[in-house]
Amino acid sequence: MNPATDKNNDNATSSETQRPRKIKFAYEDDDQFQGETLDETVTESSNLDDDALMCDPDEIGADKTSADYYFDSYSHFGIHEIFTLQEMLKDAVRTKTYQNVIYKNTFLFKDKVVLDVGAGTGILSLFCAKAGAKHVYAVECSQMADMAKEIVKVNGFSNVITVLKGKIEEIELPVAQVDIIVSEWMGYFLLFENMLNTVLYARDKWLVNSGVVLPDKASLYLTAIEDAEYKEDKIEFWNNVYGFNMSCIKKQSMMEPLVDTVDQNQIVTNCQLLKTMDISKMAPGDASFTAPFKLVAERDDYIHALVAYFDVTFTKCHKLTGFSTGPKSRATHWKQTVLYLEDVLTICEGEALVGSMTMWPAVSEAKPLDASFDWIVMMGYFDPIC
Ligand SMILES: C[S@@+](CC[C@H](N)C(=O)[O-])C[C@H]1O[C@@H](n2cnc3c(N)ncnc32)[C@H](O)[C@@H]1O
Repeated sequence: MNPATDKNNDNATSSETQRPRKIKFAYEDDDQFQGETLDETVTESSNLDDDALMCDPDEIGADKTSADYYFDSYSHFGIHEIFTLQEMLKDAVRTKTYQNVIYKNTFLFKDKVVLDVGAGTGILSLFCAKAGAKHVYAVECSQMADMAKEIVKVNGFSNVITVLKGKIEEIELPVAQVDIIVSEWMGYFLLFENMLNTVLYARDKWLVNSGVVLPDKASLYLTAIEDAEYKEDKIEFWNNVYGFNMSCIKKQSMMEPLVDTVDQNQIVTNCQLLKTMDISKMAPGDASFTAPFKLVAERDDYIHALVAYFDVTFTKCHKLTGFSTGPKSRATHWKQTVLYLEDVLTICEGEALVGSMTMWPAVSEAKPLDASFDWIVMMGYFDPIC
């Protein structure tokens, strides 16, 4: 599933497929929400203060999955693809965190063999080579691998970095084992269009027993926001278009998650940790989960949407390092994922929205390789005073 991106962009895309609403309501008297105990965590920003290929061109016209289109999006050098690559590299929260993790923890890399999963331009491999790695295998499935080879050569690292063009799942590494796996695999909503399974595949095939995966922790959070202005401007608009009811478009536009930045002043409730994944230990199936949540209002307000975001951490560093994609942290290219509610809720300070979020791989016959996830939220009100 592709979340629509950027509500500030009038050309924002949304999936063309019809799908049922994913947020279901249950009300106060609904038994399933009574007596739930929840682990509640307020996320803190850990962002720094300083400052996408494969697909054989011969296969054009063959049945393509959305995973193929994902790889394709990195593989030819249209202006859009170059912009996407540059956007990722310019995302200083993202790229500088990786750089700091690698440069400030050279003890992890000195004389070690590194595997860079999904190397893109080779930027992470270059960081690792500079940090003293004995050898870096940079695997990239798109045409960008050719550029990466050139970049490695121009920067004088051809003796340390070997760029391998191909899918991790299909290539042969010249070594039996690696000491470190580094990858930037995260997608919108953490798991949409992500490469987690590719990293887990590489880990299970090549990582030594005491090996390190960077990053090794990823956590998904949920909060709730007031967003009247946007809803009125972009969604309620369809109720009356020059006197005509076009609300069928409104329903469609609200069904898809929206990727956009949320102002922290819009946050009405606490932020709830839904799930933490340990990339060094987890099984692929652990990415499917149902997590309960309890969002307690911190003020009287309306609630228009739930907002999901993630943190990643590198726990093997001298000093715990990572970044957050949350609304209270410096913005990243992942922004946040906004899930609009069909009905506007009113909530008083201390009242809670309780429910659960379920995520599972969106596998279909039409899209057998799709790395997307599907999701559903079950939700109801809860007044802790009663
Ligand atoms: C998010 S980009 C990260 C690029 C680079 N590591 C960086 O940090 O700038 C992910 C890259 O992984 C590549 N990729 C995705 N799936 C892959 C797979 N199964 N095998 C090899 N590369 C893959 C994509 O083509 C894309 O270039």
